[in-house]
Amino acid sequence: MDDLIKRAAEDLAAAKNVAALTGAGISVESGIPPFRGKGGIWEKFDPMEFAHIDAFMRDPAKVWNVLISEMKEIVDRAKPNDAHKGLAKLEEWGILKTVITQNVDGLHQMAGNTDVIEFHGTFAWQKCMDCDKRCETSKVEMTQIPPRCDCGGILRPECIFFGEMIPQLHLVRSQKVASQCDIMLVVGTSAVVQPASFMPVISKQSGAKVIEINPEKTPLTGTVSNYLIKGKAGHVMKRIIKEVGLLRDL
Ligand code: OAD
Repeated sequence: MDDLIKRAAEDLAAAKNVAALTGAGISVESGIPPFRGKGGIWEKFDPMEFAHIDAFMRDPAKVWNVLISEMKEIVDRAKPNDAHKGLAKLEEWGILKTVITQNVDGLHQMAGNTDVIEFHGTFAWQKCMDCDKRCETSKVEMTQIPPRCDCGGILRPECIFFGEMIPQLHLVRSQKVASQCDIMLVVGTSAVVQPASFMPVISKQSGAKVIEINPEKTPLTGTVSNYLIKGKAGHVMKRIIKEVGLLRDL
């Protein structure tokens, strides 16, 4: 692992246009559970019963009562960890340009990254299904379920449910970012959900290096990624940032 940390630091210090693709794993050390694997959200809740748009339309109170209220409680409390902070540091140093995240927790922005493409939308905001008025999730009163807008319409989070399209603008911009970067840093994603997991493939095909940080192998490992740094995102990023800092001081 020491060699790979040094290699990643050298690659990053020499790069001019780094992009990152992040997934639920980057927020695990902030106390937010991932979707898949042991302790994952989909182990507890059937996504087709609670996270599909048809399920929400059929019974919004059920989805609010179970999945959304639990997510709200967890996300309201969460703070960026060393991995989010590391990506913000890379932006501050002019190395990292854009974060494409599948996460809806807002922790990249909280850490200081300014160009974040929220591929699956955001949980920070709710939108009225009748009048489209937005309100901050942290300000939503949970006294009535489902919570309602002043106009009486039902609120829904501004994230993508299964069965919904990725906003076209996010998709097109992500493809552009992925094709123009010289390094794609893939942190904490199982890389099984399309089209997000195709972004590193675009980077690879466009000549970029693809570096993965994950405690486990993914479908990208050994095929698309040049190397995998096996470990927890916060721990690994902290060490990489230290090394990049040393290289910048030379
Ligand atoms: P997953 O839950 O599918 O994958 C999480 C990944 O994080 C796995 O590869 C883990 O090995 C890894 N991991 C776990 N702990 C980690 C840590 N401390 N540091 C680094 N990595 C760690 O999450 P995503 O890939 O984000 O979509 O899932 C993609 C999409 O599937 C989500 O955006 C969501 C879900 O259904 C929607 O809700 C639309």
